[in-house]
Amino acid sequence: MQDPDEIVKPFVEEGMSTLDIGCGMGFFSLPMAKLVGEKGRVVCIDLQEKMIEGLLRRAKKAGLADRIDARVCSQSSLGVSDLAGKIDFALVFALVHEVPDKENLFSEIHHTMKPAGKLLLAEPRGHVSKPDFAKTLSVVQSRGFEVIRDLEIRRSHTVLLRALHSSA
Ligand SMILES: C[S@@+](CC[C@H](N)C(=O)[O-])C[C@H]1O[C@@H](n2cnc3c(N)ncnc32)[C@H](O)[C@@H]1O
Repeated sequence: MQDPDEIVKPFVEEGMSTLDIGCGMGFFSLPMAKLVGEKGRVVCIDLQEKMIEGLLRRAKKAGLADRIDARVCSQSSLGVSDLAGKIDFALVFALVHEVPDKENLFSEIHHTMKPAGKLLLAEPRGHVSKPDFAKTLSVVQSRGFEVIRDLEIRRSHTVLLRALHSSA
C-alpha cells in the first residue's frame, strides 16, 4: 500500500496553495490539507461528482473542509482559470492515462502554477507501459514543465517537475 502522507510530505509546506487533480475521494487531498495548515488550501478537482461528494464528507469528518476547495470539472476543462499563477504544488496521481487530451490538461495546469511551482506526476505501472509514460513525459515537457528528478514510488512511474515561465 502506498503511504500518501509520506509521498506528499517533502513537497507541501504550511500556507501553500496546492492542487490535487483527479483527486478521487481524497486519498492524497486530506494529507495535503493537513500539511498546508489553516492558512493554506487544496483545490481538489474530479470529473465525477460522487468522488467530490465522498471527498467532502471525509474532509468534514477530519475537520479539514475549510482548507479544501472541491470542484467537479468537465472532460474538456479543469475549470481553473481563476487560479492563474497561484499554485505552489500540483499533484496528478494515477490520472493522466484516463484523460484523452493530455496537451490541454498540462496546459491548464501550467497556467495555474507560480514560477518554479512543482508538479508531481505519477502513473500506475500496472496500467501504463514505460513507452507510454515516456510519451506523457514529452507532452508535459512541451507544455512548459521541466523534469527535476525521478522519484521512487512503489508500483508507479513518478517524476517531479518544475513549471517554467517565459519570463523565467
Ligand atoms: C485512478 S483514480 C485516482 C484517484 C487519486 N488521484 C488517487 O491516486 O487516489 C482517477 C480519478 O481521476 C478522475 N478523472 C478521470 N478523468 C478526469 C479528468 N479529465 N479530469 C479530472 N478528473 C478525472 C476519476 O474520476 C478518478 O476519480
